[in-house]
Amino acid sequence: MKKIAYINEKIKSFNSKIYVPGDKSLSIRWILMASQAVGTSIAYNMLQSEDALSALNAIKKLGINYKINNENCKIYGKGLNGFSFKNNTIINAGNSGTLARLIFGLLINSKNQIILKGDQSLSKRDFSRVIKPMRMFGQNIQSKNQKLPIKIKGTYYPKPINFKEKKGSAQVKSCILLAAMKTPGETIVKSVPSRDHTEKLFKYLKLPIKVSRKNKLDLIKYKGIKNFKGFNYIIPGDISSSSFFIVLTLLTKNSKILIKNVNVNKSRTGIIDILKIMKAKITLKNKKNYNGEYIADIFVKSSNKLKSINCPLKMNSRSIDEFLLIFLVCATANGVSKFNNIGELRNKETDRLKFANKFLKKLGIKTKVTKNSFKIYGNPNLKLDKTYKIEKFDKDHRACMLSFIAALALGGKWIIYDIDSINTSFPNFISLLKNLGAKIS
Ligand code: S3P
Repeated sequence: MKKIAYINEKIKSFNSKIYVPGDKSLSIRWILMASQAVGTSIAYNMLQSEDALSALNAIKKLGINYKINNENCKIYGKGLNGFSFKNNTIINAGNSGTLARLIFGLLINSKNQIILKGDQSLSKRDFSRVIKPMRMFGQNIQSKNQKLPIKIKGTYYPKPINFKEKKGSAQVKSCILLAAMKTPGETIVKSVPSRDHTEKLFKYLKLPIKVSRKNKLDLIKYKGIKNFKGFNYIIPGDISSSSFFIVLTLLTKNSKILIKNVNVNKSRTGIIDILKIMKAKITLKNKKNYNGEYIADIFVKSSNKLKSINCPLKMNSRSIDEFLLIFLVCATANGVSKFNNIGELRNKETDRLKFANKFLKKLGIKTKVTKNSFKIYGNPNLKLDKTYKIEKFDKDHRACMLSFIAALALGGKWIIYDIDSINTSFPNFISLLKNLGAKIS
C-alpha cells in the first residue's frame, strides 16, 4: 500500500448503505477465548486487520492452530491448559494495546517464558496498569520502565485477587478476567465502568461470572477454572469504524447513510449520545440482541445546526476511541465545548489530546488544553482553504482516518502521511470512502 494520500476536494452529497468490518475488540476477544476453548470455534465477519492478525499470530506461537479465509476463521482450541511453546518464544503484538494487555491474562499459568514485543508506538505505552494486578496473581514479569519488551512467565499456583480498577480501562479489567479464568478460587474486580464485551462473552459461554453495580463501580466476581467448548460467533460491525462515516455524514450537506449491523453495546455508544446532545440526527433501527450483544443499523442525516457540549464525565469511557471525531464535530459547532477528566487520551496509540490540539489549531480553531481537559471554541462557519499536511502522529490509525474525514467534510488541500496505519483497524476504509464518491489519490 502506498504511504501518502492527497485530497483536494470535499465529498459531494451522498445517500448510501454501507457495512463496516467486524468489531476489533470483539474479534480480538473471540480469538483469545477460542484459543482457550476445547475444540473448534468458528467466527464469521471477523475483522481481518493487522491488530486481529497479530492476535492470530500470537496464539499460533503459543501452539494453537487456526485457518482463515474470506468467509470465516477457525481456531482449534485445546482448553485452559492447552498452550505449548518453547522458552523465550517471542510474541509481537504489533500496534495492538488490547492484544498486548489481554495476553498477560492468558499467560498466567504458562510454564515457559514469553518475550512480548510491539511496534514503536506500542513500545512507548505504559504496562504498569497490567503488571500490577498480574504480579498479584503470581505472574513473573521482567520489564524496563514498565514498557515493552517485557518477559512474562506464569506461575504453577496462581492466586485469585481482589482488585480495584480505577482508570475505567477495559483492557486491564479483561486481562484480569482472563487470568481469573485460569485461577482456582474467586477473583473480584471493582471497576470503573468500561466496555463490557469480555463479561458478555463469558455470560454467552455460560461461564460463572457475576456482575453487579455498586457505588458507581462494576463489581465482578469470577470463579475459575471451568473449561468450555468451542463456539461459533458472528462478529457485528465496529462502532468505532462506523463513527468515521457517522461524522462524515453529519458534516456533509444533504447526505444520508445507513450503516448496517453495528455492535451498539451501551458501553460503546457514547459518541451517538454525545452527538445527539449536540443535536445530530442519528437513529438506531432494527435493534436486536445477538449472542449477548446488541446490534442495530445506524441511520444518520447531515445536521447543520450542531451545538457545543459540556461533555458528561460518564461518557468518557463510553466514547474513549471516538474523541478525535467528537472534537472535530465540536470545531464546527456553535459555542464552546468542554471535556474534563480525559487524560487517558494521552495514553493511546499517540497522545491524542496533544494531537487533537495541534490538529484543531491547524484548522484555525481556538482551543485550551491542560493535562486532563480540553476546551474547543467552535466555528459553525468553518471553511478550509489552505494546505494541511498531516504527519508525525505515531502512525495512530484513528488520527490518520480523522484527517480523511476533516478533508472530505471541510475542504482544503490535504497531504496525509503514513496511511498504511489504517490497516491496523480498518483496511477497506479508503475504498468505502471512494464508493461514497470521495476523490482520494
Ligand atoms: C479496548 C479498550 C480501550 C480502547 C481500545 C480497545 C478493548 O482501551 O481504547 O481501543 O478492546 O478493551 P483502555 O482499556 O486502555 O481504555
